[in-house]
Amino acid sequence: MSYIEIRNIFKIFGPDPQTALQMAKAGADKDEILAKTGHTVGLHDVSLSIERGETFVVMGLSGSGKSTLIRHLNRLIDPTSGEVLFDGTDILAMSISELNAFRRKRLGMVFQRFGLLPHRNVINNVAYGLEIQGQDRKTREDAARNWIERVGLGGYEDKFPDQLSGGMQQRVGLARALATDPEVLLMDEAFSALDPLIRNDMQDELVKLQGELHKTIVFITHDLDEALKLGDRIAILKDGKLIQTGRPEEIIMHPADNYVRAFTRDVNRSRVLRARTLMQPISDDDNINASWPRIADDMRLEDILPVALATNGSMSVIDGQEKLIGILSKEQVIAALVA
Ligand SMILES: Nc1ncnc2c1ncn2[C@@H]1O[C@H](COP(=O)(O)OP(=O)(O)O)[C@@H](O)[C@H]1O
Ligand SMILES: [Mg+2]
Repeated sequence: MSYIEIRNIFKIFGPDPQTALQMAKAGADKDEILAKTGHTVGLHDVSLSIERGETFVVMGLSGSGKSTLIRHLNRLIDPTSGEVLFDGTDILAMSISELNAFRRKRLGMVFQRFGLLPHRNVINNVAYGLEIQGQDRKTREDAARNWIERVGLGGYEDKFPDQLSGGMQQRVGLARALATDPEVLLMDEAFSALDPLIRNDMQDELVKLQGELHKTIVFITHDLDEALKLGDRIAILKDGKLIQTGRPEEIIMHPADNYVRAFTRDVNRSRVLRARTLMQPISDDDNINASWPRIADDMRLEDILPVALATNGSMSVIDGQEKLIGILSKEQVIAALVA
């Protein structure tokens, strides 16, 4: 069983969801149900498995059900039908006190609008969760200082939120979420309000931190570039339905339908595709030329390109153990770029 299991979730918004639920289960879609019953389908039979330690991105257009989905994980929303399991525990069966403890100890949340407390300085914002947990002042301030340092805000401990830029405020939001050492970070469009350059910095920061922390992160975005950069896997929602789940390369190489394809059209493929996806795996009788440049299997197309252009032959692809696993030709590299 996976760490987080979402099983056959339907969420119908409106005063009398059962009729609409039966229609949805019988195959009616969101538009039809809205027209006939006035009820909104938030999620339609969504099942997902999220592994411990992965960054799982949920992507889709506005209104596709992303926030509704993430709110099921902290039970801000209960499903109309379906199950949510955390580490084997049914969170829908938790009592209020169990649920509060679960949220406080195991989940960290980062919000789009930062959600900082305006009358507290940076250190007291970051220490907030630990204060709720009842930790003493020294413990929580030490932890807060550590996290402030790690998100690159050392020196700003005594500033107040309105003295910080948006990017810095979101670093505080991230430090606050991490300070309680949660197992899971829930991030709903956490970077969407930031300017593109700052947003890029925050994405880099999150990738760096996650390389050290290996949290389970559920990250929501409407931006495919962001999804591809951050996600180990990506789930794509449309009108409450799960359209595709896959690794970034799978989404780019094999979009499930035109909705996904429309997202992928403007993506910079050279940042996503890697040698191992493009190469021809070698079999025993392949003729490897020792003079060919050797490239790592996780090398991205943008970094392979200069090597490809400089060689007259092909390239040998090697894995982490320096074992030869494939061949990549200049033509394959160019074909992948223009596809
Ligand atoms: N509390 C609510 N009451 C009624 N409809 C809602 C509510 N929350 C969300 N919805 C509807 O559910 C659908 C999914 O919304 P949401 O999950 O917020 O989408 P996203 O986060 O992808 O933009 C939308 O059609 C939205 O209007
Ligand atoms: Mg949303």
